[in-house]
Amino acid sequence: MTRILFYLDEPGKDVWRPAFEAAMPGVDFRDYPDWGSPDDGPAYAFAWEPELGLIAKYSNIVAVFSLGAGVDHITRDTSIPTDLPIIRMSDDGLKEGMAEFVLMTVLMHHRYMPRMMTAQRNHKWQRLFPKRAENVRVGILGYGALGIACADALKPLGYGLAAWSRTAKPAESGIEHFTGPEQFNDFLARTDILVGLLPSTPETTGLLNKDTMGLMPKHASIINVGRGTLVNLDDLVTLLDSGHLAGATLDVFTEEPLNDSDPLWDHEKINITPHIASITRPETAAEYVANNIKKIETGQQPDNVLDRMRGY
Ligand code: NAP
Ligand code: GLV
Repeated sequence: MTRILFYLDEPGKDVWRPAFEAAMPGVDFRDYPDWGSPDDGPAYAFAWEPELGLIAKYSNIVAVFSLGAGVDHITRDTSIPTDLPIIRMSDDGLKEGMAEFVLMTVLMHHRYMPRMMTAQRNHKWQRLFPKRAENVRVGILGYGALGIACADALKPLGYGLAAWSRTAKPAESGIEHFTGPEQFNDFLARTDILVGLLPSTPETTGLLNKDTMGLMPKHASIINVGRGTLVNLDDLVTLLDSGHLAGATLDVFTEEPLNDSDPLWDHEKINITPHIASITRPETAAEYVANNIKKIETGQQPDNVLDRMRGY
């Protein structure tokens, strides 16, 4: 019998038990704080932002499944043994959700929707005429599971697509690839709408700042759906206020929730969403965990194990 130790501190979390029971009949699904004793036998943790020190206390945990694609909410706990496998979420539901959100927000920036909404609030009949999609250059920072899903969703619209990643990618039709720090500036210089889909690591922290965003074409837009650490927000506001950048959609922040007195809420060129670009969906996620546990228990390598050296 497989034992799951579940940790999620959010309303509505009751949907997870039936999803696991459907994907893994007979599962011993234990919702925190009813995790039982570490002597109860081997278990898999499935967690989002677990309490600091909790995972290390349960020496019966054989692997930790992250409820999200990012693992920063787990690795912030330095008491977790460094040889305990941490497995990133990468189910179809997460990819579909991110592709939907990015498609929607790219279209919003392309079609000047934020400015239209401001005009409406001011009772202004302001007609703006967008470029053809083929003349709008979209650049995706991060070409992993989610970056690829977003590119696949954007391709049929005809945007000039590019992606930037750490390691070189094979040539592919409909998208230009840029690699590593040496090609970062060229990537920025050709990007009208930038989609941030990078994990939070020391290398990606503060990557978008006054100097780098300043290299983007005038009137470019930023969509950040990876992690808040990517963007220096003071620099972003400076570039929006100077008119260099046209707008930003921010779904992720260094401190979440964003403080209700933060001036970013009222910036007319910034759209804020509360870290919902893609929410892990119970049915597909439980299937993903079940398949990965099957791999572990049959001696195979599970998918998407965190590489602690890379940080993702
Ligand atoms: P992934 O499959 O691990 O892909 C990560 C991508 O980032 C890879 O293409 C990787 O390059 C690239 N990368 C990492 N470090 C880099 C660096 N220093 N320089 C250049 N490229 C770098 O991850 P994923 O599943 O696509 O998820 C991406 C992130 O999205 C997650 O880590 C999470 O933070 C965020 N996320 C947010 C939400 C939300 O609702 N807002 C939802 C889900 C996920 P290589 O291809 O060369 O390895
Ligand atoms: C959400 O932010 C995730 O990492 O899946």
